[in-house]
Amino acid sequence: MYKLAYIIASLITLDARIIPNKYNEERQALLDEETLTAVGGKVHLNANETIANDILMRWKMKELNASNNNPQYFNYSKHYFSYKEDLKYSKVYQIIQRMPKGAALHLHNTLLLHADVLVQFTYEDHLYACQEDGTMLFHFSETTPDMPCLTEWSLVSHLRNSSGNTTAFDAQLRNYFTMYKENGEDYKSVDINTVWKRFRKVGRAIGSLIAYRPVREKYWYETLRQFYNDNVMYIEIRSGIYSLYELNGTLHDKKYLMDLVKNVTNEFIADHPDFIGVKVIISQSRARSVDQVVEVLNMTRRLKAEMPDFIAGFDLVGQEDAGKPLKEFLPVLSEAKDEINFYLHAGETGWLGTSADENLVDAILLGSKRIGHGYALTKHPSLMTAVKKKDIALEVNVISNAVLALVQDVRNHPLASYLALGLPVVLSSDDPGAWSAKPLTDDFFVAFMGIASRHADLRLLKQLALNSIAYSSLECERKERLLSVFNARWDKFVADVISDPSLNDKHSS
Ligand SMILES: *[C@@H]1O[C@H](CO)[C@@H](O)[C@H](O)[C@H]1NC(C)=O
Ligand SMILES: *[C@@H]1O[C@H](CO)[C@@H](O)[C@H](O)[C@H]1NC(C)=O
Ligand SMILES: *[C@@H]1O[C@H](CO)[C@@H](O)[C@H](O)[C@H]1NC(C)=O
Ligand SMILES: *[C@@H]1O[C@H](CO)[C@@H](O)[C@H](O)[C@H]1NC(C)=O
Ligand SMILES: *[C@@H]1O[C@H](CO)[C@@H](O)[C@H](O)[C@H]1NC(C)=O
Ligand SMILES: *[C@@H]1O[C@H](CO)[C@@H](O)[C@H](O)[C@H]1NC(C)=O
Ligand SMILES: *[C@@H]1O[C@H](CO)[C@@H](O)[C@H](O)[C@H]1NC(C)=O
Ligand SMILES: *[C@@H]1O[C@H](CO)[C@@H](O)[C@H](O)[C@H]1NC(C)=O
Ligand SMILES: [Zn+2]
Repeated sequence: MYKLAYIIASLITLDARIIPNKYNEERQALLDEETLTAVGGKVHLNANETIANDILMRWKMKELNASNNNPQYFNYSKHYFSYKEDLKYSKVYQIIQRMPKGAALHLHNTLLLHADVLVQFTYEDHLYACQEDGTMLFHFSETTPDMPCLTEWSLVSHLRNSSGNTTAFDAQLRNYFTMYKENGEDYKSVDINTVWKRFRKVGRAIGSLIAYRPVREKYWYETLRQFYNDNVMYIEIRSGIYSLYELNGTLHDKKYLMDLVKNVTNEFIADHPDFIGVKVIISQSRARSVDQVVEVLNMTRRLKAEMPDFIAGFDLVGQEDAGKPLKEFLPVLSEAKDEINFYLHAGETGWLGTSADENLVDAILLGSKRIGHGYALTKHPSLMTAVKKKDIALEVNVISNAVLALVQDVRNHPLASYLALGLPVVLSSDDPGAWSAKPLTDDFFVAFMGIASRHADLRLLKQLALNSIAYSSLECERKERLLSVFNARWDKFVADVISDPSLNDKHSS
């Protein structure tokens, strides 16, 4: 046996020495096979796309080359907050910003809008604020709110006026609406529980501000505008079901929030006819009891019957390591799975063999249409095979994983393997408002420059956009329309890249 192996090995060596070209052919064949297998490998570029791709790749190489030999300048392997403000100077970033990106399929309703816009909402009349537990709670009311709060309620207009410096006051308010700190604390060594605690504080501040009906309407319109301007033409949001209120204290029923999102979306579509729309994945916190989950599952059934083209399905949300595993809700989820489509978060964890890690098994067995994050999937080859066979899309949120302390250097993100294996991947941004990211551009850019192969090009980007359309929950007709809007915008994008002098001046830097 050993001898035979030795003979074969020497033959190969001999062969390679005699016919070196054969080795090169085999080497190239392996590389070609990898390219063909990877996401985007089968995309064919037309003549114009090829020119645009050459431009894109020239900038990509230039920008990557600058740090290949000087890794200390490779910003994307550092914390997102440390390079976020420099992104706009990258030509590759500018190209990706202009690129139509299809849809964003993994988003949480209340954490989508940039903090700067939220600060503008605090200029509305009748807004009170109260500091509690390291965050700021807001409430609109004609008189001082009688809601419990650990300190005291004050009118924001008074606080702002008496602060003596509006700019400084607003900057302080902004800090309650985003985890992003320009020259703040060092995030690098923060553990996942600490970072989620900060994340939840931001969520509480924003949630309290936008529970007021008139502000929620503005919030939703502005959110859609930001996604639209970032070249995203359709979104699916995870949303809880809860009551909004009016200035006189009137509480709306829980369905009202869905009506509001739907109406404001229709208004937005009337103003922007090539925006396709929004669907909602009703969600409940995974920290809640089985009964509370059943209540929301029941509500999802009712809403889906009333608004079939608006309600996509159901999910359980919240920190997976700390919350209850899917296994604990198995009887009620199993019972509902034939009526309600699931889009379950699973495997958003760094721990192997824990119940959060094994949520992946239950998500697959429960027939989840897509999996939220699936970060732990590469550690489970059988599950990876199942995901591929059942064509379950993976909703990957790179910057979320970086900010929420799952990955420090994105070059080690499992997305690299998913792309190489040609798994059905869609990119999304989870909660871009919570870390002041662009709706989708930042995630596409970091995936392209920091995670995907150096060789990955426009074909990958186009396939990712096409995946977001294909794996959306849209019914056939609107899916076709989204695709045709995408194709028209794509051709225009390609033409713009080719003709833009700022991208083509070979002497510019
Ligand atoms: C390529 O670009 C040219 C010039 O902008 C345009 O006339 C032509 O229709 C484009 N071809 C395709 C296939 O898009
Ligand atoms: C980038 O580096 C590679 C390998 O060193 C080189 O072949 C290529 O010309 C460089 N490209 C640019 C745009 O600097
Ligand atoms: C990387 O970060 C440094 C320091 O913030 C900045 O000067 C540089 O422009 C950044 N490089 C890129 C390619 O964004
Ligand atoms: C702001 O404060 C000034 C004096 O400090 C006062 O004259 C003014 O009426 C205040 N405005 C509001 C809106 O409270
Ligand atoms: C107000 O605060 C801003 C931000 O902290 C600071 O740059 C500015 O100098 C302050 N203005 C005055 C008049 O103090
Ligand atoms: C409270 O305000 C809302 C919205 O302005 C209004 O529709 C409702 O009639 C008011 N209710 C009461 C009890 O005044
Ligand atoms: C939504 O629009 C419908 C139809 O115009 C209207 O009857 C309903 O009151 C609106 N609901 C909300 C919450 O805006
Ligand atoms: C959910 O719906 C089922 C079937 O209609 C009903 O038996 C059950 O009481 C409901 N549970 C809750 C918590 O609403
Ligand atoms: Zn999520």
